[in-house]
Amino acid sequence: METESNKHNQTVNSNHRLAIFASGAGSNAAKIIDYFKHNTHITIALIVSNKKEAGVLKIAEQNNIPVLIIEKEQFFKGDAYINALNKSTITFIVLAGFLWKVPQQLITSFFNKIINIHPALLPKYGGKGMYGNFVHEAVIQNKEKESGITIHFVNEKYDDGKHIFQTTCNVDENDTPETLAKKIQLLEHQHFPEQIEKILTNNL
Ligand code: GAR
Repeated sequence: METESNKHNQTVNSNHRLAIFASGAGSNAAKIIDYFKHNTHITIALIVSNKKEAGVLKIAEQNNIPVLIIEKEQFFKGDAYINALNKSTITFIVLAGFLWKVPQQLITSFFNKIINIHPALLPKYGGKGMYGNFVHEAVIQNKEKESGITIHFVNEKYDDGKHIFQTTCNVDENDTPETLAKKIQLLEHQHFPEQIEKILTNNL
């Protein structure tokens, strides 16, 4: 089957093995997995989650992707999971609904190779506690005229690394956090896989 990703295969001339860190429903992870399904250079090699009951685990199972469940105390030790990631020969990390701050050692090990998606136009509406519907509630409460998504490199602070991509949507007067969430999710699904591919292509 010809996918959008296949069309670009020829421009990616080294192999990438991605770990997706996700702890929610996993709708972004599902889109990413689907997008790269037939890509011979970019493989979704591991799903990492801190929640045993996360929806993303079902998606991993359906797609035969190995799963690593991580534990808080170990994760914040900093280097506890680096061996496991190296063992799976992971070359790049995508955070898609992962809410823990990434420890410095992991950032150093994967320097400029960890990206995150955030459901707002950073630097506004970012930081600790700003995730999911909390973001959309705040945007609506402040009567913003627009919101959007930010894809950015991850550093040692929440939602703070260098921006890679932003796009916007209107916030209408009658939008609720739920209707805004749907608009944002659409943008995420539309752009995240393609942006990942661009980053990996340019990284070569
Ligand atoms: C996405 O909207 C993502 O932007 C957000 O979590 C959602 C995960 O949805 N991330 C953050 O808020 C990070 N601060 P999904 O599990 O359906 O992909």
